[in-house]
Amino acid sequence: MKVARAAAAGTDRQLTGQMRLSARREGGCVRITAQLIQVRDQSHLWAAEYDRELRSVLEVQTQVASAIGSEVRLKLTPAQRSYLSTSDELIGELQAADTIVIGAPMYNFSIPSSLKAWIDQIVRLGKTVGYGPNGPQGLLARKKVVVITSRGAAYEKGTARGAFDFQEPYLLHILTFIGLTDVTFIHAENQGREEAEVFFSAAAERIGGIVIDQDQQVVAH
Ligand SMILES: Cc1cc2nc3c(=O)[nH]c(=O)nc-3n(C[C@H](O)[C@H](O)[C@H](O)COP(=O)(O)O)c2cc1C
Repeated sequence: MKVARAAAAGTDRQLTGQMRLSARREGGCVRITAQLIQVRDQSHLWAAEYDRELRSVLEVQTQVASAIGSEVRLKLTPAQRSYLSTSDELIGELQAADTIVIGAPMYNFSIPSSLKAWIDQIVRLGKTVGYGPNGPQGLLARKKVVVITSRGAAYEKGTARGAFDFQEPYLLHILTFIGLTDVTFIHAENQGREEAEVFFSAAAERIGGIVIDQDQQVVAH
């Protein structure tokens, strides 16, 4: 038996429901039984069975996750639903946007915890990432992303310090994971050094160039 938690984000104190899943295979078919249990008293909230052809485990996973998602949302109390409302709202903003601008200082060679908290709300199975026959597939497409960072030092690729840049590679990976493949990075580097102003101006100029480019695209449409 495989047991999965319905609310991956959250401590046990916050967790109100736990999803238990079991799978039985017969020939080319799989029967998945899902049960939602109240954590507080282990009472039974909801259960359903899903029979699917077993062409691709990942495809079945996506179908069942999406079916369970819509079923369970109908059964949740308003308080339980509110756990997902922030995520729904933030994903809604992304879906409505043509261009997404992310501002990110480098903290300890990576991103600040507030930005990570946002990422944890917007990377969601069935909403921004699905699983198809070829594995994970990002569901947010045809959007431009501009990531503007500020850093105390410089992390030019190919240099010794460049190897410590865990900010750009991580952001690029997670954005691509949810389908955002058109990503431009603008780094205001050396902000902790004497020449900070020069690097800040160079970054500001690049940002200006992108804004002009965007305006021209809007006019061209
Ligand atoms: C907690 C913390 C960690 C930092 N870690 C790094 C780092 O690993 N590398 C770096 O180049 N700068 C680092 N910095 C410097 C910041 O990236 C830099 O000052 C940036 O301009 C801060 O932007 P902010 O003022 O908007 O927070 C750090 C700053 C803070 C406050």
